[in-house]
Amino acid sequence: MNQVIGNLNGIDFTLGETLLELSYLLAALLFVYGLKLLSHPETARKGNFYAAGGMVLAMVTTLFLHKNTDGQTIPVTNVWIILAALGVGTVVGWIMALRIKMTAMPQMVSFYNATGGIASALVSLLEFPNADMGNTGSVLVTLLGLIIGSVAFSGSMIAYGKLDGKVGDIFSGFMKYLNMFLLLVVTALTIFIIVSGQTPDQLSWAVYLLFVVSLVYGVMFVMPIGGADMPVVISLLNSFTGIAAAMAGFIYNNQAMILGGILVGAAGTILTILMCNAMNRSLLNVIVGAFGGGGSTATAGEQGEMKEISLSDAAILLSYSKSVVVVPGYGLAVAQAQHVCREIDVLLDGKGVNVRYAIHPVAGRMPGHMNVLLAEADVPYNQLVEMESINPDMPNTDVVLVIGANDVVNPAAITDPGSPIAGMPIIRAHEAKNIIVMKRGRGKGYAGIENNLFFDPKTRLLFGNAKDTLQKLVSEIKSL
Ligand code: TAP
Repeated sequence: MNQVIGNLNGIDFTLGETLLELSYLLAALLFVYGLKLLSHPETARKGNFYAAGGMVLAMVTTLFLHKNTDGQTIPVTNVWIILAALGVGTVVGWIMALRIKMTAMPQMVSFYNATGGIASALVSLLEFPNADMGNTGSVLVTLLGLIIGSVAFSGSMIAYGKLDGKVGDIFSGFMKYLNMFLLLVVTALTIFIIVSGQTPDQLSWAVYLLFVVSLVYGVMFVMPIGGADMPVVISLLNSFTGIAAAMAGFIYNNQAMILGGILVGAAGTILTILMCNAMNRSLLNVIVGAFGGGGSTATAGEQGEMKEISLSDAAILLSYSKSVVVVPGYGLAVAQAQHVCREIDVLLDGKGVNVRYAIHPVAGRMPGHMNVLLAEADVPYNQLVEMESINPDMPNTDVVLVIGANDVVNPAAITDPGSPIAGMPIIRAHEAKNIIVMKRGRGKGYAGIENNLFFDPKTRLLFGNAKDTLQKLVSEIKSL
């Protein structure tokens, strides 16, 4: 492995170094290919496998081929310690993944985010004593790794606690000022450490203080954010973890870490932006407060009455339609009605009805919520149609069946510029020939506003818990 096999710009390189660099290149290709496969539910499992394979490859080659500046490989004792830590982590992660319920997935993602964040923060903390204080860029990278990793850790732990119902929302106007003050302290300490001209030893108090203040900021930043906005925040914290890992990669000049971190950081940032766009809200708006509320949308009284439909009429309407589009929403997830919904879809399919599902990107409360639920109920992927593709087909749709969805089908987003959801892309259920809505009562959606669709002359309501109503509808359709 120490045999010199070439020379580039006067620097010899050995077989070991060449293999190490090649393994990083292969790992990078596997990460990118894995990410590509993750973009479709059918190939996602394979994508995860390839990306994890790339990570294992990079870890193994680093462990045995990496050399420090003195040309030494990792000492054997350290290799054993690292292998033991990897073993423990693998077993704990494996057991957690087997035990976790699908509904608790966001908590788990948050927990893993936290571990990634603290690992990067600790790398910065441990490597700071070796920092070359004359090299401002490298000191800044070390401090950014510490700050971003710490915020990602404590913020993700609070997000985990909130999603698990262990931590409540705390909101007071005062927190906005406290957060600004904490950010100011973080910035001041960072500048001080860089320009002070002191040695890492003399600055260790400032670095530890920076660590603590960043941890506190992470807690305070996530604490006031409302439960339903947590998916956006989790995705943002996920991107922080990636960026912190990339900083740690710069500290060690390790290409695999830099690239892996950048990919996670970029993917998290893109997902955050997509979610904000799909909700037509700015990230700042998500971070500092809930939906604006109010708006000029008329109240129920001004809009007329909601018309009900009997179960037998609904069964007849659905059974004698050519084309039915189901719009699933948060209510379907709460009622866990996905399996019985699939049952209806199979029954209608047997009667020659073309049944499709219209998927809004932020229907439910987490990214891909509806895809996960419907996949769990074995709905074939080709029946799931994205909003942009199904909308042009709405005027030709005989019946739209809205199951526990509200904001994502609210026409106020198009018709009322004063509405808090104005501009939010919606599924144009109101353009269909008939609309059947399943909900329990007059409850509002996440945005807390009235929905004109429920008062549309073409709309009829089936009140009740979505699962119960669907079960009764199954019997009605079977009895036809
Ligand atoms: P929502 O607008 O929240 O509406 C849910 C509807 O379901 C309500 O009208 C409610 O009315 C009904 N419902 C609740 N429990 C039910 C049950 N057991 N059976 C039948 N109906 C039930 O849902 P949506 O249309 O899916 O919109 C999602 C909202 O969440 C959007 O505003 C989106 O921006 C926001 N959000 C989404 C995400 C992601 S990433 N998906 C993240 C943060 C926020 P009743 O009370 O009358 O039953």
